[in-house]
Amino acid sequence: MSSSTPSFRCPKTVNVLLLGTGGREHALAWKLKQSPRLGTLWVEADANAGILELGRVCPEPTKDVFRLCRWCEREDVTLVVIGPEGPLAADYATKLSEPGKRFVFGPTRGGAQLEWDKAFAKQVMRAASVPTGEGRVFNDLEQALAYVDTRIDGCVVKATGLCAGKGVMVCPTVDQARRAVDACLGRRIFGDAGTTILIEDLLEGPEVSVLALCDGKSFWILDPAQDHKRVGEGDTGPNTGGMGAFSPTATATAELMRVVERDVFVPTIDALKRMDIPFHGVLYAGLMMTPAGPKVLEFNTRFGDPETQPIMARLNGDLLEACYATATEQLSEIELSFDSRAACCVVVCSKGYPNEYAKGLEIEGIDDARAIDRTATEDILIFHAGTVRKHGKLLTNGGRVLSITALAATHERACELATAAAAKIRFPGAFFRSDIGRPLVKVPTR
Ligand code: GLY
Repeated sequence: MSSSTPSFRCPKTVNVLLLGTGGREHALAWKLKQSPRLGTLWVEADANAGILELGRVCPEPTKDVFRLCRWCEREDVTLVVIGPEGPLAADYATKLSEPGKRFVFGPTRGGAQLEWDKAFAKQVMRAASVPTGEGRVFNDLEQALAYVDTRIDGCVVKATGLCAGKGVMVCPTVDQARRAVDACLGRRIFGDAGTTILIEDLLEGPEVSVLALCDGKSFWILDPAQDHKRVGEGDTGPNTGGMGAFSPTATATAELMRVVERDVFVPTIDALKRMDIPFHGVLYAGLMMTPAGPKVLEFNTRFGDPETQPIMARLNGDLLEACYATATEQLSEIELSFDSRAACCVVVCSKGYPNEYAKGLEIEGIDDARAIDRTATEDILIFHAGTVRKHGKLLTNGGRVLSITALAATHERACELATAAAAKIRFPGAFFRSDIGRPLVKVPTR
């Protein structure tokens, strides 16, 4: 359970503004709502239907940060929780915070650079000796093509800017690498986000997401999670924002987590301190568990989606206190823990995703999903992702529609329950992966 020390300073009532509109934010809203300290939970007007059921709509356009700031002042908002990377890159953390009065959970643009500029992240990792794949930065098409021609062992081509999860291209052959380079630097399919690219070694192994709350002075590592990024069964097909996730994961053993803490989080956070970059939020390390040990594929500076859904399902205690402590450099004044049960999230998507898909399809079966056969110690949580309520009907409003999350005593049972509940959801073209969490990936030998 979470508890705070007597010296934890936090108002009895905290009005919170939650920025973000998707599945991750529904899970955050659900958890914030459980806090006895919560005053009003303000949410964005275009948030999904699940979030809108939990919060009150902020009347200001959240794109206009200056109006938003004045409105926060009037409504006595003391904590802003930022879900997605966009507002972090736009420095909402600096613009919305007011020393001593209003605090922001989420790093400033300087800290978020670890996510919005992969070339910068690589530079920080190199300088801090954080284990990561070898990589070279290019912004000239001919030079990049000449370099990939020398790579017989495959590589990964990454746009260095924010591309909504689409900017990473795994290229096992030189031909594929040439096409990926041309897409970024020739055809500019990612616009400004792809005018600089990183060409990295292709690493092998299972991927694990390790997230830590960082308050600028100390950090607390959350239980590890794994997500499935490919659209098809057996991890095939194009990349998506995430088709499902689970936590904890047997891949990240206690020993590997100690290595991750020592070799990844400690040196990265020290490097940020040396650069005078305050970091009050989540540092998310996307790791490849290679035979040579964990290596960082990328950093994100926010909660993962859909990893947040199983992580929030398992987090014991008060998320509002945890966010406030993170934003005010008081992490050492609170204690958090995780439910010993396993959680699995299966994302129900709309036909066509991750490409074109229809919107406005009526969703049925949510009550059936909640009601599936389970024991008293098992739970089903329905987090919305892309949904909207119109004329009393729940409709699809995105490619990822619902994040069906189950809690159970074992990983296998949590996966089974989440999959069975996802199968109850009905709308034309609904689909999901029935193999989330399976088969369990073996722990690599070192
Ligand atoms: N699940 C991957 C991400 O949130 O970026």
